[in-house]
This record gives sequence, C-alpha cells and structure tokens, in this order.
Amino acid sequence: MNYRITLLPGDGIGPEIMTVAVDVLKVIGNQFNLNFEFQEAPIGGVAIDATGEPLPKETLEKCRNSDAVLLAAIGGYKWDNLPRHQRPETGLLGLRAGLGLFANLRPAKILPQLIDASSLKREIVEGVDIMVVRELTGGVYFGTPKGVFETETGEKRGVNTMAYTESEIDRIAKVGFETAQKRGGKLCSVDKANVLEVSQFWRDRITQMSLEYPDVELSHLYVDNAAMQLVRWPKQFDTIVTGNLFGDILSDAAAMLTGSIGMLPSASLGASGPGVFEPVHGSAPDIAGQDKANPLAQVLSVAMMLRYALEQPAAADKIEQAVLQVLDLGYRTGDIMSEGMKQVGCKEMAEVLLKVLS
Ligand code: IPM
Ligand code: MG
Repeated sequence: MNYRITLLPGDGIGPEIMTVAVDVLKVIGNQFNLNFEFQEAPIGGVAIDATGEPLPKETLEKCRNSDAVLLAAIGGYKWDNLPRHQRPETGLLGLRAGLGLFANLRPAKILPQLIDASSLKREIVEGVDIMVVRELTGGVYFGTPKGVFETETGEKRGVNTMAYTESEIDRIAKVGFETAQKRGGKLCSVDKANVLEVSQFWRDRITQMSLEYPDVELSHLYVDNAAMQLVRWPKQFDTIVTGNLFGDILSDAAAMLTGSIGMLPSASLGASGPGVFEPVHGSAPDIAGQDKANPLAQVLSVAMMLRYALEQPAAADKIEQAVLQVLDLGYRTGDIMSEGMKQVGCKEMAEVLLKVLS
C-alpha cells in the first residue's frame, strides 16, 4: 500500500519528536509492506517566521492532498505577543476548520508501568481507561460574534459566542455513542446546562440521540462536577463527549491522571478526508533542542494514524506493544522518571524503541 503523509513538525520540541515518528514509520513500513511518501510543511511559529502566516495556503493544500497528517506541536514564547490572526494557535484552529475535523479523540489510559508517575494514589488511577471525545470545530472557539467592540457608552467589551447547531451536536454525539459502543458501553455527556442555554440544547439533543443507541448507558454531568469526579474517582468514566472548550480543559485533566501528558496521542477526524494525528502535549519551548523531550506521545499518534486513517491495525498494535516494552525495560524520559528507572533523552529513547521494533 502507498500512503502520502504530510508532516507538520511545527515548533519547540516538534522537530525532535517528529524525527522519531518518521523513523518508526520507516521501520514499520518495511515490516508491513507499506510505502510512505512524506511531504513536510510549515505551521505555527516556523510558518510565521517564513511567510508571516501561521497556516500558509500551501500547507493546508498539502494536508488536503494526503492520506493523513502527522502534526507535532506549535507555539512558543517568541510568538506569544503577536496579534491573534498571526498567533501559532490560530494556525492550528485554521487547520482543524480547514479540514473539517470536528471530532477529536483523546484517550487517557494509565499504563501499569507508569502508575507511580501519576500525582494521584495508585488505587485511584490503576485501571483508568477514558476516551474523551471533544467537539473541535464549533462552540465558543468558533462562534460569532467575536472580538472586542465598543459599547454605546464608549467602553470596550470583549465577546465570544458559545453556539452549537443541531447538526453539529448530532454528528459529535454519533461519534460519542459509536465510540462508547466499541469500548465499555458507557457515555457521559458533559455540559453546563444549569446555566447555559446552548448547553441545555446540547443535553436535549444528546438525550434524543440516545434513543438510537439503547445499548449505550448515557449519563450527563455539569462540567464543574465532571472536573471534580475526574480527580475523585476517574474509573467511573468510560467515554466522555463534550464541547470544544470543556473538552480542552477536561482532556488536560484526564491526561494528567496517567502521569504525564507526554504519553498521550490524539486523533482529529472529519466526515471525510485526511485526519490529523498529534500528541496532546504542546511544544515545550523550555526544553526544546535539549534532547529532553518524550517522543512517545508522538509515536503513539503514529499508531492512532495507522489505526484510524490507514486501517492498519496490526501495525498500530506493534507500535503500541513496542512502547510498552521500552517502558518495561525501564527506560524513562524526565517527565515520566521514577525511582530505579533509567533516565534517557529523546534520542536514546528513540534508539531503544527502534531496536525493540526491529
Ligand atoms: C489543544 C490546545 C489547543 C486548543 C490550542 C493550542 C489552540 O490547547 O489542542 O488542546 O485549545 O484546542
Ligand atoms: Mg488544550
């Protein structure tokens, strides 16, 4: 099989961890007879430096013309004070909107090898396996009106709008229910229906949709309670479906249950066309270029890409197994280090991983 993969290394530690992902794909390609054609493009800060824009048209075009997009991370101090339309984050949002990636899957599964890296007690986190399904192209991130406007009295007023249409809710609900069906059969929808009209509407639609999925046990939580429950007793959750902003916040919290956000991949999918696969963590500018980054979330994003976009589950399994083996051998980057383990940098982690894979 031939696949064209667009690589978006981005900023900070992005290029370091992307190198590891590409090496993994080459090895896996040889073993499974998959032929990858890679094309690289700039996004985020590097794109701003090169072209003045965080998402150049050519980059979006290349992404559209590929079977899948592998993204590392964007952003850094250098670009933090630019006007909004030039910020790296705007490039990422443009990529999501431009490819119609409305469904963001963020698994948070604790690995037995890393239980001691979690900030919570063993009995709380042991066995945690949550999938956050986050709506990604709607809600307050994209709603209009937005901006800073002058009121009649001449005072300035900042505005964003949280809005969801029926079809936007229905399509993410469908992903939520279908994901739950393939997992533990439980779906928790998170909203703020006690305060927000848009959330009550969300809740009503999801309840309506649940009639089509009698095999899925549906529950609803307000977002503040959901945040509390996630740290109180995370094992009560199987699949969570929620809007863009709540999903942004809850997926970081869920990620940290597992010990390190440095271990977690994500998939962003649309109705058709290429998906984007990327680690949940950011560009970590504080450790960029120092060979300290944990490349495993990027590598696990490769596995998600093989599973969800390229339909190569055996290759995905192999990569996921290799990551577990490397951890079993005791190798740890700084972010997941614990007593008695062997601390390594990004390059050494990659070497061990490639050895295990081949
Ligand atoms: C994420 C990030 C992004 C988001 C930022 C970088 C725009 O926090 O992917 O979770 O808010 O969606
Ligand atoms: Mg986030």
